[in-house]
Amino acid sequence: MASKTRMIVEKDFKIADIDNRIYGSFIEHLGRAVYEGIYQPEHDSADEDGFRKDVIELVKELGVPVVRYPGGNFVSNYYWEDTVGPRDQRKKRLDLAWRTLEPNEIGISEFSKWAKKVDSSVMMAVNLGTRGVPDALNLLEYCNLDTDSYYSSLRREHGDKEPYGIKLWCMGNEMDGPWQVGQKSAREYGKVAREAAKAMKMMDETIECVVCGSSAIGMPTFGQWEADVLDEAYDYVDYVSLHQYFGNRDKDTADFFASLDDLEDFIKAVSAICDYVKAKKHSKKTINLSFDEWNCWYHASEVDSETMEKKPWGLHPHLLEDNYTYEDAIVNGIALIKFLKHSDRVKIACLAQLVNVIAPIMTESDGPAWRQTIFYPFYHASKYGRGAALRPVMTTGTHKTAKHEDVTDVEAIPVYNEEKGQLTIFAVNRLTDEEVPFEADLRGFEGYKVSTWQALESDDMLLSNSAEGEKVKPVTKSEYSFTDGTFSASLKPASWNVIVLEKA
Ligand code: AHR
Repeated sequence: MASKTRMIVEKDFKIADIDNRIYGSFIEHLGRAVYEGIYQPEHDSADEDGFRKDVIELVKELGVPVVRYPGGNFVSNYYWEDTVGPRDQRKKRLDLAWRTLEPNEIGISEFSKWAKKVDSSVMMAVNLGTRGVPDALNLLEYCNLDTDSYYSSLRREHGDKEPYGIKLWCMGNEMDGPWQVGQKSAREYGKVAREAAKAMKMMDETIECVVCGSSAIGMPTFGQWEADVLDEAYDYVDYVSLHQYFGNRDKDTADFFASLDDLEDFIKAVSAICDYVKAKKHSKKTINLSFDEWNCWYHASEVDSETMEKKPWGLHPHLLEDNYTYEDAIVNGIALIKFLKHSDRVKIACLAQLVNVIAPIMTESDGPAWRQTIFYPFYHASKYGRGAALRPVMTTGTHKTAKHEDVTDVEAIPVYNEEKGQLTIFAVNRLTDEEVPFEADLRGFEGYKVSTWQALESDDMLLSNSAEGEKVKPVTKSEYSFTDGTFSASLKPASWNVIVLEKA
């Protein structure tokens, strides 16, 4: 029997008010994310604009406040002018990142419309790969200005009287990556990003800018890249980006669960670098983190390489269509707990991606949209994880895995939503073969009662969902006691738990 995990929850132990944008996601012009994903005019469920209503419903169910667009690697050779105006005059382009033909049927106007339909806002990226400051300014003017100037007037001529009002702007994407069109050194990139952000803020002072950090913690330039880029751009940007994908390549579930400790180290390291540059510059301003790409990504990689190599330049090919397993869902649950634990610094996070491409939502081109296993932890966190993240004063056992030491058995975080009178504890038992007795001291929450305990539980780590049905979905748990303000239960091995209490 594993040792008991004990947690004391107090309203005063606040980490931070959670920025709802940590429940963001991402739609890239890649594979079937846009075409056959959010947009399929010939599908039974298409609305008057050709958007799939079944997908809209599932995105709304997830509660995604912000969607990053249009890339990703795609943005580094993006010609936004080709995506606006009369559709029959739009140019088809070659997307070099994914070796695909881009028809540009969906552009900024259509995507902004879709974002409204799913109650979300757009986080737009500018092309700092093959283009630069002038183009970023033109795009911003087209999107946000209501002046008599050329691009603003052009938008109105195209039928969109109101500006889109896009507040969040990414200064390119993964500019350290050798795979990126227009890859740059840290200093080169830092200067371009600084000038782009500076000029964009001169045009619209209400925007916020995200500068590219390393495209993963494993990059050889990691650390120095962030320091150099921020050294150049610190005064003009608001967030630095982090990207990380996870995969169980060694077929070792325990180590897969433990690998999320690396994500936490990544967050701590980038926060420290931001603060180092802050100190060096004697600045009063704090740069926060935008973890704008995260997910499991490894299942379909071989097939994808073959598709791109052997069948290039097709229209919306099947790419990055990872079919997620039970253990992937648990990993994503742990990632969400880590973001909440660091919600004092992580203000934006985007699950990459949203539909069909490494996504929680999949579509059949002539059938329904359906939920992958990873849909559920995100759904729970987005639904119950709003308010203030509370510091979990917690004792739990630790274990060792193939590549990780001192791995906590249980990862958990309480979230207090004062407005709703709701307290939620998110907890994952990372042990793959033992239950963990779990106790939460909730005496500080007088009058609260357990309203529901939802969990993902399975002995089969490779279980997955499909259009035919959901083998992985939440169960409601009732085997617990709640006496004298103490919640006690046993957490199943490799389980995701969402314990919700409400004021009676
Ligand atoms: O999300 C898929 C890809 O991963 C993105 O295009 C890129 O930014 C990252 O390498």
